[in-house]
Amino acid sequence: KTAYVFNGPNLNLLGTREPQVYGSQTLADVEALCRDACQAQGLQLDFRQTNMEGELVGWIHEAGRAQAQGQAVGVILNAGAYTHTSIALHDAIKGAGARVIELHISNVHARESFRHHSYISPAARAVMAGFGVKGYALAIQALAELGD
Ligand code: DQA
Repeated sequence: KTAYVFNGPNLNLLGTREPQVYGSQTLADVEALCRDACQAQGLQLDFRQTNMEGELVGWIHEAGRAQAQGQAVGVILNAGAYTHTSIALHDAIKGAGARVIELHISNVHARESFRHHSYISPAARAVMAGFGVKGYALAIQALAELGD
């Protein structure tokens, strides 16, 4: 089965983007750690990044269909700033019936107040924040073990 990892806006800048907040590992490093985590769980990894909201919407629909066909365990979604703005992503998760773990590298609750509200959380199966990029590996392990 496949584990999807979808990354939203600005996450292509990991490594150089505010390293004091997000660390010095790049998105390629994150993909490598996700690949190891999936291998340990016997899962296939499908890892993507986009700066476009609508693309994330389409990917969530795709993941929901794969899940319905028994081909996927779900999605780790770091929607970046769209977390705090996107009703479209909220609706996509609900509409597609996708099992989504919302992930943030930083502890969004310890940061600016505009990061405290998430449109993703009410539609997500679980939320993970503040574990740095290690959170991706932890979330893949959780997704493998969550079940419905
Ligand atoms: C983030 C937190 C968001 O508030 C921010 O807009 C991001 C990254 C994180 O991984 O900590 O782009 O999702």
